[in-house]
Amino acid sequence: MTDRASISFTKPVTKASGTLVAFAGADLTLGPAARRLGLEALVKRAAETARFTGKAMSTLDLIAPADAGLDRLVVIGTGKPEDLDEKDWVRLGGVAMGAIGKAKSATIVLERPDGRKLSGDLAADFALGVRLRGYSFDKYKKPKEGEGSSKPVAVKIAVAEMAAARSAWSGLSGVADGVVLARDLVNEPANVLGPVEFAAKAKALTRLGVEVEILGERELKKLDMAALLGVAQGSARPPRVAIMRWSGGKAKDQPLCFIGKGVVFDTGGISIKPSAGMEDMKGDMAGAAAVTGLMHALAARKAKTNAIGIIGLVENMPDGNAQRPGDIVTAKSGLTIEINNTDAEGRLVLCDLVTYAEERFKPRFMIDLATLTGAVIIALGHHHAGMFSTDDDLAVALSSAGAATGELVWRLPLGADYDKLIDSRFADMKNTGGRAAGSITGAQFIKRFVKDTPWVHLDIAGTAMDSPKTEINQSWASGWGVRLLDRLVKDKYER
Ligand code: BES
Ligand code: ZN
Ligand code: MN
Repeated sequence: MTDRASISFTKPVTKASGTLVAFAGADLTLGPAARRLGLEALVKRAAETARFTGKAMSTLDLIAPADAGLDRLVVIGTGKPEDLDEKDWVRLGGVAMGAIGKAKSATIVLERPDGRKLSGDLAADFALGVRLRGYSFDKYKKPKEGEGSSKPVAVKIAVAEMAAARSAWSGLSGVADGVVLARDLVNEPANVLGPVEFAAKAKALTRLGVEVEILGERELKKLDMAALLGVAQGSARPPRVAIMRWSGGKAKDQPLCFIGKGVVFDTGGISIKPSAGMEDMKGDMAGAAAVTGLMHALAARKAKTNAIGIIGLVENMPDGNAQRPGDIVTAKSGLTIEINNTDAEGRLVLCDLVTYAEERFKPRFMIDLATLTGAVIIALGHHHAGMFSTDDDLAVALSSAGAATGELVWRLPLGADYDKLIDSRFADMKNTGGRAAGSITGAQFIKRFVKDTPWVHLDIAGTAMDSPKTEINQSWASGWGVRLLDRLVKDKYER
């Protein structure tokens, strides 16, 4: 991983020098700080030539402008400042970092072009965008000729509410670290990151005050997690389950529970996948990565809540010992499953974890995240995760957290007619329900293991990896879900 931005906050600067970033509204107005630096005439003149109109997220780049004593001036459009919402400040941070590029250092004159106060929280959101845009996964590439130093850019954010910004960033930088951790885990190839190695990454959260238990094969057998173990049995690498506990709430507060699919590589097993694009299946642990990143975020910012993250780490391989289509396993809950397709393995991992979580922790809710189906990409593309819920309030809260962070969810239906599709001739259920409504039957399968705890399933196959580049993510893995769930917790579940 490379973090290209090293961020600090300062008071508004009084002299323009070096690389400067400023903001312009739709009518090319600059904020008071930029005007005090005498940038107005220069921006007006250059904007005309470059046809820069101040449209939100657009940029105007001036190298060595003659006046103003600068090496470079980057102007970023905000559109009409009153149209900017919260998540747009994160995006603006991304745009700024994208424009700064390879500079050694830069000063950002952060303000609203309409002169209204910019809160410390929004300034920290902006910094989050800078940080996330500066992420790249290049640890396996040797630096290009002439690009010797990969030293981070010193990004100075000059903002009137400096103290408030610093204090907001001290929490939010932990969330940024959580996103970066999730991206790193998803980008890492499966030969390097197997179940054992992933479990060690979870264990490392101990240093933030997270209690981490790792369950190995023996313990999982003792716990009767036969559905999960069935997926793992074709792999030379043994499975692990990691349980991460953050206790930032009162002892009697019921915990929130987050469960992640961690298939470190999904070949499909005996129902083997076609070879084209199979390399992407190194990312089939993105649910587990998001849960781990979230636990990092909650602990780093000392969230006042009790939260538990549970991740099921397995590899789905074809082998002499692999599970066969037609096999019947008895899940931890006692329900029997006919495996009619070994490529529908994620639900087999999750169902045992759901039973375990509900029995052991009696959580306030359970939210699972999984790259569960290709079908959700067909339904929603890369811009919304599929959401399934037994609880309307929780679904609404997640939709709001999605709108606030830009990590969007779209609710899809559950129902008895869909549930019927996974009835089996031989067992209590089968693990796939045919081509129609593939994401829904996946959700129905997991739902059969939920007793009475409010539950949400997020199908993140389209959003966690290989989604289009954005202002705040240029990497293959997006780290999707960390910001969404951190936001849900912050808005609804902290005292
Ligand atoms: N990991 C895949 C789903 C997936 C596909 C994630 C593309 C990311 C990108 C999952 O285990 C899977 O193979 N699902 C099957 C389900 C089917 C057999 C019912 C699928 O989507 O084809
Ligand atoms: Zn899978
Ligand atoms: Mn699969």
